[in-house]
Parts: sequence; structure tokens; C-alpha cells
Amino acid sequence: MSPSKASPRYLFFGGKGGVGKTTCAVAAAKKAAASGRRVLIVSTDPAHSLGDALETRLSARLTKVKTKRGSLYAVELDADKALERWIAKRKRTLQAIAEHGTYLDADDIEKLLRLSLPGVDEIVGLVELRRLASVAKCDEVIVDTAPTGHTLRLLTMPETLRRFAGVFDDMQAKDRFLRQSLGGRLQPDASDELIEEIDSEGRELTEILTDPELAAFTWVMLPEMVVLEETKDAIAALAAQRITIGEIVVNRVAQKPKQPCAACRRRIAGQRIAIRAIGAAFPKVAIRVEPEFLDEGPPLKKPIPKLVSSAAAPLEVLARADADC
Ligand SMILES: Nc1ncnc2c1ncn2[C@@H]1O[C@H](COP(=O)(O)OP(=O)(O)OP(=O)(O)O)[C@@H](O)[C@H]1O
Ligand SMILES: [Mg+2]
Ligand SMILES: [Zn+2]
Repeated sequence: MSPSKASPRYLFFGGKGGVGKTTCAVAAAKKAAASGRRVLIVSTDPAHSLGDALETRLSARLTKVKTKRGSLYAVELDADKALERWIAKRKRTLQAIAEHGTYLDADDIEKLLRLSLPGVDEIVGLVELRRLASVAKCDEVIVDTAPTGHTLRLLTMPETLRRFAGVFDDMQAKDRFLRQSLGGRLQPDASDELIEEIDSEGRELTEILTDPELAAFTWVMLPEMVVLEETKDAIAALAAQRITIGEIVVNRVAQKPKQPCAACRRRIAGQRIAIRAIGAAFPKVAIRVEPEFLDEGPPLKKPIPKLVSSAAAPLEVLARADADC
């Protein structure tokens, strides 16, 4: 199956802790559902807050969220459980591969899967995401990710899978050689099939993640100069993995105060410098400004804001806010 034919579109929301990833992801999911689509929103952050933002109790299974149009399903991914399930289903075959291997015993394979990677939760994250998307039969998958480091690891997972397949394949080589010499023609056995499954999962995930039609990343950040350097690093890391940055959301931009106020004026001026610097640092990425909501609650309670498609427009918003402060 070629992923481009059957795959839904994946939209990841990433950024530092507390900047508004969940808020923006929820707003995007509701907007997509309101346009009639079948949407799945998944939190891959082990510290889930998606249920709170949706005001719905969520679990690792699909929960339907009420919408006026379209349909919206939500999941708080439990990576440990997903990995356990993945291993349990393939336990026999994994053990067989281990037995065929010359340098690992049956127990080691589980240790290998569990321990020798940076974080267990990232390993199956994307595999589980894809499985859920297929169960929900959705057109669009919105991913509310964990803070930066975790997410960057999550996205290297397809390569990790392929490395696993490579290690397993080495372990199988001797057995395959024996089968070939004994039986003449080589029939793939369950182990070969599992290795192929892991390898093609990795390959297809890479294809999806690097296809701008199928996957894009929205980077959420605050209008502060101090975060610009680390944002550059994170976006460079995504670009190095050939993942498309669809948009940068500059969240919590100060609105015009009701009364003239020197403090607000300084704050707005500072934010304006930061937004200009963000625009200059990422000239090819659309920058969208989301105002800071004060008493009214977060943006998801308000009408979904329009997308601003160029870096120049946000400055107008700020200029207006600045005018009579
Ligand atoms: N534009 C905004 N104006 C005012 N408050 C906002 C805005 N965006 C987000 N918030 C508030 O900021 C807090 C953090 O937002 P949110 O949970 O979306 O961030 P996050 O990046 O997902 O955080 P975490 O890294 O902890 O998952 C929430 O209380 C949310 O309501
Ligand atoms: Mg969050
Ligand atoms: Zn003020």
C-alpha cells in the first residue's frame, strides 16, 4: 500500500512547554471538523492535558467529541501500553528471531526493545498514531505533541524502526542461510515477515512525514526574543528530517489595552521587535499571530481566528494595537 493513496493528513503542533500547543491543536481540530471533515486529535505528551482542553474525559481509545458538523475523535496516547500490545502480538516471532540470533537470547530482545532507546514512548508513538488514524478512518490527524526534545525524538522513530529491522535481519541471516542450504528455495517465514513489516512501517512513516501533502508541522511560540535561537535550532532539526514547517504561530500577542498604559506600550513594542525578528528568521514560513485572551478564556472558546498568510500582516495587528496605547 502506498501511503500517499490511503493516508490521512497529519498536522503536528510543537513548541516549548506551556506556549499553547494544546490550545492551538484543539482550535485546529475543531475548525477542521466544522468544515465537515473526519478528524482525529491525539496527544502524544505523556503529561496529557487534551481532555481538559476538550472538556471531555479521554483515554488511549478513541472517544467521540461532540461537534456540530463533521466528526471529531480524541485520544490521549498511552505509549507504554501501545508498545506492550505491539510486543505481545508479535512475541513468538520476536523470540524466534532472538533464538536465531547468535548474540542475543530470548529475553534480550525485550530488553533491546525496552531499554536501549532514548525513550520507550517515542518508539511506537507514530506507529500507534497511524493505527488509530486507520481505525478512526479519518481524513485529518491533529497531533498535540510534548515539548520540543521529546517530539524531535518521536520524529526520528521511523529511522529507529528501520535500524531495528536491520539488526533483526542480521540475526536472521544465519537461519536463512541454513534454510536455504537445506531446502533449496527460500520461503519467507514469520520472522522474515515481521522484519519486513517493521522495515516497511519505518519506510512508510518516513514517506508520510516527508511528504508536504501528508504531513506538516505548526510551530507554536511566544513573541519573545529569548526563544528565537532555540526555535531556530528546533526548526532546523525538523528541516534536517525533511519535515515541512507549515506555519509558525506566535501566540499570546498583547492586545491593545483599554486605557493608555506605559507598561503595555513597552510590552507591545518588545513583542513587535520579536515578531519582526521571527519573520526575518523564517522568511519562507507563514507566521500567524494569535492574540492573548484575557478575561474571555483561551482562543478555543472564541471564533477560530483567520489565518494570516504573510509575515507582514502581524505587524499591522501590532501597529494597530500600539496606536493609542
Ligand atoms: N492566546 C492565549 N491567550 C491566553 N491564554 C492562552 C492562550 N493560549 C494558551 N493559553 C493558556 O496558556 C496555558 C497553556 O496553554 P496550553 O496548555 O495550550 O500550552 P501547551 O504548550 O500545550 O502546554 P504543555 O507544554 O504543558 O502541554 C493554558 O492555560 C491556556 O489556556
Ligand atoms: Mg499541551
Ligand atoms: Zn497596561
